Amino acid sequence: VNKLSTIIVDYIVIGTGIAGLSCALGASKHGNVALLTKGDFFAGNTPLAQGGIACALAPGDSPEYHYQDTLTAGAGGCNQDTVNILVHEGIDRVLELKNMGVPFDCKDDGSLDLAKEGAHSKSRVVSAMGDSTGRAIAETLVKEVKQISNIKVYEYTMVTKLLVKNKECFGVAAVNQFNQQFTFLAKATVLAAGGCGQVYLHTTNSKTCTGDGFALAYQAGAELVDMEFVQFHPTGLALIENPRILISEAVRGEGALLINSKGRRFMQQHHPMAELAPRDVVARGIFEELAADEKVFLDTTPIGQHFVKRFPYITAACRARGLDPVNNYIPVTPVAHFMMGGVKTDHNGQTCIKRLFACGEVACTGVHGANRLASNSLLEGVVFGHRVARSLINYDTLTAISLFNIDKSDTDYAGNSFIPVNEQVNNQTYNRFSKPHSSVYRNKLRSVMWQKVGLVRTEKQLSDALKLITKLEKQLPHDDYETYNMVLTAKLITEAALKRQESRGSHYRKDFPYALPEKLYHQVLL
Ligand code: SIN
Repeated sequence: VNKLSTIIVDYIVIGTGIAGLSCALGASKHGNVALLTKGDFFAGNTPLAQGGIACALAPGDSPEYHYQDTLTAGAGGCNQDTVNILVHEGIDRVLELKNMGVPFDCKDDGSLDLAKEGAHSKSRVVSAMGDSTGRAIAETLVKEVKQISNIKVYEYTMVTKLLVKNKECFGVAAVNQFNQQFTFLAKATVLAAGGCGQVYLHTTNSKTCTGDGFALAYQAGAELVDMEFVQFHPTGLALIENPRILISEAVRGEGALLINSKGRRFMQQHHPMAELAPRDVVARGIFEELAADEKVFLDTTPIGQHFVKRFPYITAACRARGLDPVNNYIPVTPVAHFMMGGVKTDHNGQTCIKRLFACGEVACTGVHGANRLASNSLLEGVVFGHRVARSLINYDTLTAISLFNIDKSDTDYAGNSFIPVNEQVNNQTYNRFSKPHSSVYRNKLRSVMWQKVGLVRTEKQLSDALKLITKLEKQLPHDDYETYNMVLTAKLITEAALKRQESRGSHYRKDFPYALPEKLYHQVLL
């Protein structure tokens, strides 16, 4: 126990969501891969994704329409080049997933059964098992990964530091659930560590989504952008639990309506697309109703009994909580759902640190701008996970061994044996991922983020939040890894939200209710 071991591989991939799994599969064609996750394979957000994966496959649809919808939802914040890549390459990636065996829902004629979601001008959301698209994709990718001898999976292994020297990443320090310490050295390291919904009191995100990737990258000196753009999903189930149950946007796509306690619809007054307006608009519409002491419900009457077959997961989740989603209204509320910003990368996932890549939710390629289009997140994961894997081949001529002057005879290059302790991490003391008393800090942090850095923000609220977060940062032991990552990520979000003195997409400042001209969009960076 506590022995520090060094493992040498070609590539390290951190995270087992759709981005990490896709990347590991691609990278394994060029070399061996250590795939690290602090939980088990299914601990992250991917298996929780319901609605689906967007893809312009319907007759009458085209990647150009998908491109335009993504840009419109993104409220002037998208990178047009990366959106172009997303919508075009997404088609091949989705068809590859289908060929790999993901049981996508099909019509009687065998073609994909495409659904509608908010801000999409066409039906283009591919689903699996009704409303368990993420789980179906994750299960298929994991099955595939398990068959590849070039990929070694380290479950319950948390990365505590990216090892970076002179703006070049040569691996990671990590600790497992038995408190054993590891140094992984590699030619390239890929951050696919997911999001940070858990920094908010109410979130759809898995308990593992504590902002680890953002914090690791920031501490290593990587550039982060757009961290103020946190997406609140309009329809989390209004029953307090962690994580919150998501009521998929596809439910509104099938015809469900949003009503208040008086039984009145209210979204038409906010946007011509009403219930299917961009997500930020719907979330704020609901927020206003709630602030006016109304309750908000999804009226599923237009879907009728078809609901049970179309949304089996949501039906079971509601029934398990004593709710009848077919004959009764479903109470809903906005909840923290997705981080649009993150570690800045180019269109191949390259960060500003050599040999360090990022993909999936932790990365910011600019595909989502200030507000992500529904069902573009699984798509981003598979498209950019694939692109990162492809660009790793550029590092084939260099090896970790030549980088660090390590005698190859000391090592088993397959990545299983141990070599002398690396000085840089030897001095660190490791502990559990999180300490028992950290719940006090976490609760304070999650509450302040919810109350002051939420859907509607002001300078005063944000400054108050920043003071409290800075205090927590000082109090918290830095070896309480997870909680520290949450505090640091919360600080980055709050600082960025303070700096952006305008309202755009998911970032709404009551004291600056209008958007600045689009050309100023990237003026305010972290
Ligand atoms: C949903 O099913 O509403 C979530 C899909 C997404 O977050 O894009």
